[in-house]
Amino acid sequence: MLKYVRRKVAILTVFIILCFVWMQVSHKSSCDGDCKKLSIIQNALFPFSYNITQKVIETHTGKVLTRKHTRLVTAVDCKHIIEGQKEEIANAKIWMTKHPKNSIPDAEYLNLTSDCNAYKRERGFLDFIVTEEEEKYPIAYSILVYQEVEQLERLLWAIYRPQNIYCIHVDLSSPKAVHNAVNAITGCFDNVFVVSKKETVIYEGFSRLQADINCMADLFQKNRKWKYFINLPSQQYPIKTNQEIVKILQIYNGANDIEGMTGNRMLPNRFKYVHKYVPQDRGKAKIYRTNVTKSVPPHNITIVKGSAYGIFSRNFVRFVIYDEKARDLLEWCKEVLSPDEYYWAMLNHNPHLGAPGSYKGPPDKKRWLAVFAKWGERCQGKYVRGVCVFGVGDLHELVAREELFVNKFHLTYQPLALDCLEEWLYNRTFNSEIVDLDFYRNLPFILR
Ligand SMILES: *[C@@H]1O[C@H](CO)[C@@H](O)[C@H](O)[C@H]1NC(C)=O
Ligand SMILES: *[C@@H]1O[C@H](CO)[C@@H](O)[C@H](O)[C@H]1NC(C)=O
Ligand SMILES: *[C@@H]1O[C@H](CO)[C@@H](O)[C@H](O)[C@H]1NC(C)=O
Ligand SMILES: *[C@@H]1O[C@H](CO)[C@@H](O)[C@H](O)[C@H]1NC(C)=O
Ligand SMILES: *[C@@H]1O[C@H](CO)[C@@H](O)[C@H](O)[C@H]1NC(C)=O
Repeated sequence: MLKYVRRKVAILTVFIILCFVWMQVSHKSSCDGDCKKLSIIQNALFPFSYNITQKVIETHTGKVLTRKHTRLVTAVDCKHIIEGQKEEIANAKIWMTKHPKNSIPDAEYLNLTSDCNAYKRERGFLDFIVTEEEEKYPIAYSILVYQEVEQLERLLWAIYRPQNIYCIHVDLSSPKAVHNAVNAITGCFDNVFVVSKKETVIYEGFSRLQADINCMADLFQKNRKWKYFINLPSQQYPIKTNQEIVKILQIYNGANDIEGMTGNRMLPNRFKYVHKYVPQDRGKAKIYRTNVTKSVPPHNITIVKGSAYGIFSRNFVRFVIYDEKARDLLEWCKEVLSPDEYYWAMLNHNPHLGAPGSYKGPPDKKRWLAVFAKWGERCQGKYVRGVCVFGVGDLHELVAREELFVNKFHLTYQPLALDCLEEWLYNRTFNSEIVDLDFYRNLPFILR
């Protein structure tokens, strides 16, 4: 009898020990190490924005990945805002005036990244779905940043996939905290790095263009696999998922998507006269227009204006880096005001140069889908230098656009605009939603 009881006690003890071990293990697997601390920091910084839950989802597209943050905004109903419902947009505006956003201090990123695995998990960098199609179609990005690292991080989160590669250009004149924070973040990834040569970026100056070229050269040399290059400033945000971007780029099939304008939209004073730089005792050099008439471009190149941003095929990037005519044109661009708005356009819209993926038709007729920006149209946010900084009221229009990215957001201006777009993109990613691709298949500039 006693023996029987003793055996029961022994079994019970073993059971209790097993329970205890199981609890420890299961606790560890959901949150090993530092992530508790991180959660506290994050919750303090996003008191209402995110509801962090954990679950594992399987996708019908193949890979199984964990989904941690729901990226669900709890303060307002983003779905209603995106549908354009006036009351919810008004609610959001009231909520935002009562809850101004405190962005993550740049210096805080040193703390947040002290444990890279915890950082990536907590900040959502392990939340993605990668289909086989996406895995085989890596994309290279450059991102220009000069302040507010959180906004860079939010953009990186939206486009981050392990097969892609990212070059971050930090303005040489940015505060040390920005450089340190970006170094700390990039140090947590194999496929995100800081450009090897930083430029002091001057508004409307040549260094802005050089910054992208530095990234292009690094990306080209570091990785042989990527198919397309896209350049972004940290204030842009995607309105297509990586899966959609891959499908669209495959349709482009090597064609670049670079804007081109001719005629009186070209702002001729920018290239009719030589521009020079005067170094300042404090701060960045200033640009001024001389009275000296500028020479015509080399190699019989016609002047075309475009945007600083675009979508560039790998072979086009090779051409930019190695071709002598491309380099001669770059030299000519040094005395132009805002040369980044001419260089890509002139390479892409002068077919006799033979730049790969360039456009043969009339420049103004080509649709340009890299970036949507609102200029002088009805902006629901505010205008800065003539460009709309989006507010919550703009989202309804933005999500219906055919472009791949939108420009621009300010992290602390109507912060729910970016929060809601993020939630929307997150949902689309996990629901594997794909836009109607026929629109892209019928574009006249794609290569068939
Ligand atoms: C987070 O979401 C879960 C499930 O949707 C819900 O039960 C919980 O109350 C939410 N937590 C907060 C803090 O909103
Ligand atoms: C995203 O999905 C969640 C969960 O299904 C839903 O509650 C939310 O309204 C969706 N958000 C948007 C912007 O569609
Ligand atoms: C980083 O963490 C340390 C200790 O946990 C703290 O003293 C410091 O203030 C934190 N730094 C920032 C920028 O929050
Ligand atoms: C440029 O021309 C203007 C008007 O003719 C003149 O006032 C100015 O001094 C000139 N500037 C230089 C640098 O030659
Ligand atoms: C320069 O281009 C024009 C057309 O844009 C052409 O008519 C002309 O022959 C070209 N000149 C040279 C030297 O190639």
